[in-house]
Amino acid sequence: MSRFVQQDVIADPFELTLVDRPEPHAGPGQVRVRVAAAGLNPVDWKIASNPAAAQAFGVSAPTGFGNDFAGVVDEVGDGVTDFAVGDRVFGGARGRAAADHVVVDPSTERLVAAPAGLDLEVASALTIAGLTADAVVTVSGLKEGETVVVSAAAGGVGVLAVQLAKQLGATVIGTASEKNHDFLSELGAIPVAYGEGLADRLREATEHVDVAIDLHGTDLVEAAAELGVAADRIVTIAAGPNPPHGARATGGTEASPGALDRIARGIADETLILPIEARFPIERIDEAVALQRSGHVRGKVVIIT
Ligand SMILES: NC(=O)c1ccc[n+]([C@@H]2O[C@H](COP(=O)([O-])OP(=O)(O)OC[C@H]3O[C@@H](n4cnc5c(N)ncnc54)[C@H](OP(=O)(O)O)[C@@H]3O)[C@@H](O)[C@H]2O)c1
Repeated sequence: MSRFVQQDVIADPFELTLVDRPEPHAGPGQVRVRVAAAGLNPVDWKIASNPAAAQAFGVSAPTGFGNDFAGVVDEVGDGVTDFAVGDRVFGGARGRAAADHVVVDPSTERLVAAPAGLDLEVASALTIAGLTADAVVTVSGLKEGETVVVSAAAGGVGVLAVQLAKQLGATVIGTASEKNHDFLSELGAIPVAYGEGLADRLREATEHVDVAIDLHGTDLVEAAAELGVAADRIVTIAAGPNPPHGARATGGTEASPGALDRIARGIADETLILPIEARFPIERIDEAVALQRSGHVRGKVVIIT
């Protein structure tokens, strides 16, 4: 048997049940992964709680839960040549990652070889955050010597976006609550508090902002427009498809080719970090989701199977 987190109704609040089901098997072209860990993202609880969001992501109840995972390949179907039993991998399985086993089709779903030295718990939290962090930096056109503000800079996407921007040679300002200011300084960013008066605090922190990357609502979009940042250099992932002030909505689908491999190698060789704030055994998934949903996690929350 194989444990699987199941959800029967998409509603808010939602109920997750850990069930035993027969082991799934890899069909032709498919790969089965023995999941070691499944990283959580805000989109997981948004899909679980909102029928419109679930429909937009092609999820319908009954369903599983989660997207990001990492583990070891333990079965390959006929015709699979890129993966073999024993490979350490990570990737995305929409609506079913929180489980002992996931079966994925690498021709349509993301499955990436984990480089030596990349811890599987960290790998399990990498897919959505890594792709999205690369996308926001890439789409913004950020260049060496420019100044960028990243909001929600200590969150899952933010912590990677800050480091990618630093690696490009930008000056990085990150918004966070006070508890994360020292952490952002350690990453080489200038910390600024989010909330009311953000534009004024940014004026105090810097003479000029070239790029704004808004990862939470529209506060930074508003502040950047007030500071005169060009509309095509204001990028957002959390304001829906039509953000204000002509800002550019983007997402993980706009990541540059090879982004996940590069970020995974960066973490393996310790030139990047992705902190895991908390780990929960799969039996305690409700606590893990509640912590993720609280909106104040540093880095990621991970389910251990
Ligand atoms: N479009 C896409 O493709 C895409 C992809 C990934 C994520 N997203 C969306 O982007 C958002 C961020 O994702 P994530 O994974 O980084 O989320 P996350 O890890 O849950 O973000 C947590 C961070 O948000 C910060 N935060 C909380 N309230 C804030 C506020 N009022 N203003 C600014 N920052 C605030 C927190 O900072 P403190 O702890 O310091 O308070 C915390 O570090 C989510 O809405 C997610 O759904 C979209």
